[in-house]
Amino acid sequence: MVETETVFIFIFLPIGVENQMYKNFFAGQWMDATDAIDNINPSDTSDCIGQFAMASKRQTEEAIDAAFDAFPQWAKSPLQQRSEMLDKIGDEILSRKQELGQMLAREEGKTLLEGIGEVVRAAQVFKFFGAQVVRQAGEIFDSVRPGVDVSVTRSPVGVVGLILPWNFPIAIPAWKIAPALAYGNCVVFKPSELVPALAHALTEIISRSGIPAGVFNLVMGRGEVVGSCIANSSKVHAVSFTGSISTGRSVASACVARMAKIQLEMGGKNPLVVLDDANLVTAVDCAVQGAFYSTGQRCTASSRLIVTSGIHDRFVEALSRRLMDLKTDHALKDGTDIGPVIDQRQLDKDLGYIQVGIDEGATLKCGGEQVYRDTEGFYLPPVLFTNTHNDMRINREEIFGPVASVICVSNYDEALSVANDTAFGLSAGIVTNSLKYASDFKRNVESGIVAVNLPTAGVDYHVPFGGTKNSSYGAREQGQYAKEFYTTVKTSYTTA
Ligand code: UN1
Repeated sequence: MVETETVFIFIFLPIGVENQMYKNFFAGQWMDATDAIDNINPSDTSDCIGQFAMASKRQTEEAIDAAFDAFPQWAKSPLQQRSEMLDKIGDEILSRKQELGQMLAREEGKTLLEGIGEVVRAAQVFKFFGAQVVRQAGEIFDSVRPGVDVSVTRSPVGVVGLILPWNFPIAIPAWKIAPALAYGNCVVFKPSELVPALAHALTEIISRSGIPAGVFNLVMGRGEVVGSCIANSSKVHAVSFTGSISTGRSVASACVARMAKIQLEMGGKNPLVVLDDANLVTAVDCAVQGAFYSTGQRCTASSRLIVTSGIHDRFVEALSRRLMDLKTDHALKDGTDIGPVIDQRQLDKDLGYIQVGIDEGATLKCGGEQVYRDTEGFYLPPVLFTNTHNDMRINREEIFGPVASVICVSNYDEALSVANDTAFGLSAGIVTNSLKYASDFKRNVESGIVAVNLPTAGVDYHVPFGGTKNSSYGAREQGQYAKEFYTTVKTSYTTA
């Protein structure tokens, strides 16, 4: 991958300049920084959303200290208080879904409809955990020793560091922040430098919810400074990370070395299997939504379309026709189906992989080139490769863009074995009318999520999320399973 110029420009402000940037929030205060970053709209690089503070290592340590000091009190806070607070945060997000969805689309590049959908999902997550707070139940066991009672309860873990990606600027923060707070933990939240506006807006909402100082802290900044400080601090008891495998590995190494709890959500190379008996419309819908919506920038994206030979040609033709009709344009323009990719660096990476595919001998069936619109943005219409093999690099490495490959197989057994022949295991889909194959696939595909006649991407907020192999590490996220990560189990023995 060629790394040419990045779209963000660092600006250095003299210490003491006030109110010129969106600030960090820690120890209950909005804090200036001496360094800031321009937040650029990927649909229109002349549109700067604002300048956002980049915290220093010292400031990150101050935020961690604030969380550490607030923890004993917060861990004991009344459940009703926590429940109402989370519910209130959810209500405000929901009531501002239009405005926040618009900001999300402007900053990240997904379409307005997708932006609003993500904001609603974030609100639902907060409201779900608002209710979950008062459902914290332990377990009672009979002891093997007469006259002894055994109970199992859960305690908060402590300070939780959240190191998050750019592709879901509010939903992923919500599904980590809400359970962390619900179960009595304090939070140090580091969003991606590419999407600070939604992180800032969410923090503003949380800061007005009645939350005590130090319980929730926003530290925007660079991974090498803020992320590394969070991963290495002895005062951070657990780290939840979503992002690339390489960063995930280094965060995990730092955490394991100091015995901190760790949870990682990383890449995918998700298969969507289409069998001969599939409903063609459903198959094409699943492929379009799963592979190309959100510009393919989802770890759940279906990047490998594994299709049996009897339906292969019809599927490729129908899918290509649909892709030609999709409009790739400004995320906020009416009628846009596919927004831009996030930045120049990602665009270069996508284009680099397209060249790799061509060099490997794959056929470029749709797209393959950057396009230009009224505004200067990173536009790459859906790219479809055909005549590909599972051992090609384009089918083994996560691209994270609007690029998918068709792999033709002879039957279900081969489809399953190709689906499983990958280093990843997040989400997998099958389109079929056969109960036999659907059941077999659910049982034998090596992934944390399976979709039957549904896209691999786009998950519910109240059920577990996570994968196998290199996709995930540690406890599942979301729903009641979130407590596995955000609490510690305590076993008590009592006799009179
Ligand atoms: C979805 O597909 O609805 O980073 C969620 C990601 C995942 C979330 C996907 N952690 O793409």
